[in-house]
Amino acid sequence: MTATLTAEDERYSELFDVVKETTAHGGEVFGDLTPGMNALRNKHPVMQGSLRELLELPPAPHTMYENERPHYTLLNYELCNRALRENLLFSSEVYEESPGVRQLGKVILKMVGDEHMRYRRMVQPMFIRPKAIKWWRKNWIDNSVASLLDRLETMARADLNLDLCARLPVSIVTQGIGLKGDDALTFRVHLQKSMMARTLPMEEVMQAAGEVSRMLKEVITARREKPEDDVVSELIQCELELEDGSTRLLEDEEIFSYCRLIILAGGGTTWRQLGITLYQLLSDYQNWEDCKADRSLIEAAIEEGARWMPTDPTFPRLVKEDVEVYGVTIPAGSRVDMCLGAANRDPEIWDNPDVFDLHRPRGKQPHLGFGMGPHRCLGMEVSKQEMIAAIEGLMDRFPTMRLDPDAPEPQLLGGLEQRGMSVIPVILR
Ligand code: HEM
Repeated sequence: MTATLTAEDERYSELFDVVKETTAHGGEVFGDLTPGMNALRNKHPVMQGSLRELLELPPAPHTMYENERPHYTLLNYELCNRALRENLLFSSEVYEESPGVRQLGKVILKMVGDEHMRYRRMVQPMFIRPKAIKWWRKNWIDNSVASLLDRLETMARADLNLDLCARLPVSIVTQGIGLKGDDALTFRVHLQKSMMARTLPMEEVMQAAGEVSRMLKEVITARREKPEDDVVSELIQCELELEDGSTRLLEDEEIFSYCRLIILAGGGTTWRQLGITLYQLLSDYQNWEDCKADRSLIEAAIEEGARWMPTDPTFPRLVKEDVEVYGVTIPAGSRVDMCLGAANRDPEIWDNPDVFDLHRPRGKQPHLGFGMGPHRCLGMEVSKQEMIAAIEGLMDRFPTMRLDPDAPEPQLLGGLEQRGMSVIPVILR
């Protein structure tokens, strides 16, 4: 079943322009801040202040988190890895203070400990590697890639950022949930608006949130009557283990929350990470040729991309007890920024960490681009399969594809949140 990715170009370019998206959410568009992050890490692995303050960026136009708290930033691999793993001490409850995340409802992203484990364990089987390959790829990934590449076949030049990277993940996750064709795009429009409380009138935000619920409710009701082979049908059958060991089925509101989280977490991230990796491969053409000749290198490229330039360079946590690290006491009640952008370039862990090295030996320490510990990205294997399928598909269909030398130079935009390429202009044949 192939998505009808019709000529929705205006809506697509509105929705998937990195600059427009960032500013619509009240964020700013900085270039590559990695050198600044590296310099901070080299000064000291833990510093007082938010990452934004430490990088001497102007104050954010809108607050991401409601409560004023003492703020610290963790910058090396050891500390970020520890904070990600020790979730009772460095707590994900911090997301409860973010209006954007709060409106997603009861989501695993902000749960901790036993509750998080019970809610996550139940859905994990849908996202493990074999399922990503046999279920996600077969049902939605391969078809979506094929239909987008069919569209590219009609073009001589393209912007892979908009024409492929942006469209693919949203198509896959929304279809995976159970929305069909153009409904998927309409859903994305509403979901985006429902998250824009910082920049849109409240009435518009509430109306969009209502549409999101209505569309999801329709899918849930339909699947309760007649299950299909999709995520909502699986969620309806999931049995949540309760504290006393008994089990119950999920309520509609809990299913809504899972769907909203999966669509939000899985859309923009994979788009931008795929773009970063594709551009990196094409701009050093030997890398592209190497991957073409040995397809097993594509996964290595994806891992290296997520190490070298994780699309989200920083994640927050709430410190629950006083903790001393490298001689600095972080008091209970502080917020910490875990700067994964700097941790993933830690020279204690990787040789020549600033180089994107396709042939880098896989070390003992995994990168932190998909997080680590209990909240490590649930959709990691799905997103890797999406990226593998897209890159392989391009290599098969357009073996001589290359960057367009006459187009404007692509730039990395986004800065502190949601980094991605401005454009990836290619000549297809
Ligand atoms: C390249 C693409 C992606 C990147 C870089 C990425 C990165 C991350 C990171 C760093 C976290 C941890 C957040 C934290 O600890 O606070 C996370 C969590 C999560 N991701 Fe992803 N993600 C990607 C794609 C996806 C996809 C495709 C899906 C769904 C299909 C997804 C679903 C989730 C969910 C549900 C969580 C929350 C897990 C939990 O709290 O237990 N992600 N992701």
